[in-house]
Amino acid sequence: MANLQALILSKRLRGVVDRLPVLSTIGLEHDAEWRRAYSLLSFMAHGYIWGGDSPSDRLPPPIAVPLMKVSQRLEVPPVATYAAVCLWNFKPLFVDEPIDNLENLATLNTFTGALDESWFYLISVAIEARGAPIIPLMLTAIAAARDNDVATVTRCLRAFAERLDDLSSLLQRMNESCDPIIFYNRIRPFLAGSKNMAEAGLPNGVIYEDGSGTETYQQYSGGSNAQSSIFQFFDIVLGIEHRPTGEKRGPGDESGRKGQAPPSKHNFIMDMRRYMPGPHARFLGDIQAVSNIREFVEGHRQDVQLSIAYDAALSMLRSLRDKHIGIVTRYIVIPSREVRARSRSPEATRRKLNLATASRQPRPGVTMSGIAFSSEESGGGDPARKGEGKQDRLKGTGGTALISFLKQARDETGEPAVEEWARRFMSRQIRSEGKNDFFFGKPDHPVRPDVGVGTEEVEVAGLAGTWTMDDDVGGICNY
Ligand code: HEM
Repeated sequence: MANLQALILSKRLRGVVDRLPVLSTIGLEHDAEWRRAYSLLSFMAHGYIWGGDSPSDRLPPPIAVPLMKVSQRLEVPPVATYAAVCLWNFKPLFVDEPIDNLENLATLNTFTGALDESWFYLISVAIEARGAPIIPLMLTAIAAARDNDVATVTRCLRAFAERLDDLSSLLQRMNESCDPIIFYNRIRPFLAGSKNMAEAGLPNGVIYEDGSGTETYQQYSGGSNAQSSIFQFFDIVLGIEHRPTGEKRGPGDESGRKGQAPPSKHNFIMDMRRYMPGPHARFLGDIQAVSNIREFVEGHRQDVQLSIAYDAALSMLRSLRDKHIGIVTRYIVIPSREVRARSRSPEATRRKLNLATASRQPRPGVTMSGIAFSSEESGGGDPARKGEGKQDRLKGTGGTALISFLKQARDETGEPAVEEWARRFMSRQIRSEGKNDFFFGKPDHPVRPDVGVGTEEVEVAGLAGTWTMDDDVGGICNY
């Protein structure tokens, strides 16, 4: 591990790993040791798969065997999940100082050695640490709601809203030390999984070799903050419901979907629970069973203070998701367009950057290196191909574009608001969906005129998601 970055850089990691002995997990005792082993092995696994000229579709026994064992024990998939790269991959710089302070955090492992990579992980660590006290706080609120104790529920909701505002401030510090271009081109490819990665060079997934000779291909999503259990806790405790990706609220909204793909039936947010440590996912299930705050507030609508506190918490969480969309735009959408603008032809770009790519169905002009050009684009300037692209859009692909997915999650966050004005405020459409969207209109990153943000229709793949061609962009952890 001490040489991991150098071995990746020199493309010698595979040779070294192939010659390693297969280590036993017998010496691992405490949870902390198992977690450390999992994190180390995940870094080695993704370095092995993605750290060559083309991806490796096999993981040799020195990594695969212990990785399968520790994953089983920790109830996580054998890939670099959010737990592997964030939750279990940090240390305090000074043990007597809190870990919700970015100035007291360091990473244990990175693929690149870049400060940008450390910062990317540490922002999440600080958010988790600062957000953690919300869990006991809202458990208190649940108990108080059972006792019909309006004052305590109101107090807890106010504190929740205030702390969510803190989390937004931490999220916005991403820009300080993580450069979007480095993130997009250097860090993100290592986080990619093995699911729907045909165009990245993993048509079947990855074989975890255990020496039995009977192994079959496995496919997993890569690592993403969508695997954070605390955000799902926030949603559950506030009674926010996330519909399957692409599904609108009610039949009345259907008319607003003209020209868009039919909804996908997968619920990405739910799927991501399988990438959380088992106890986290079970905890969320338990909370779901006792969550009563929304019902309580709805039953006490006449209590203005309670309603305001609840709506404020929703509004803060919605605003956090809004800021996150801005970040995704800056770190994925804009860099993907810059790469696109630099390339001579879409075909050439697709070949060169065919890493960390996902697409649900292999189709012309879909995805590359975490970048998926829409079919319209892949037709280049050819009007005939453009027509084809349009056809594709109308037909739909059964998936959803990244920004549409994130916007849906954001908008669903405001839906339970009790006060009429708050509900209207949070369901407002900032501008017409699609072109000239608010974040395209006001990039916090100067847009190069030749890149033409807002005029091209580029799509990128995500961290854990396959985000298809019908809208704007894809995500990070390729799903
Ligand atoms: C450079 C920074 C970031 C980028 C580029 C980014 C990108 C993405 C992408 C592409 C997705 C869609 C799922 C996927 O494909 O993986 C996603 C989802 C998500 N991200 Fe981020 N993310 C970043 C930072 C963060 C941070 C710091 C947090 C908070 C700890 C966060 C929280 C979430 C959550 C909760 C979701 C699930 C969707 C939702 O609940 O709204 N992200 N992110």
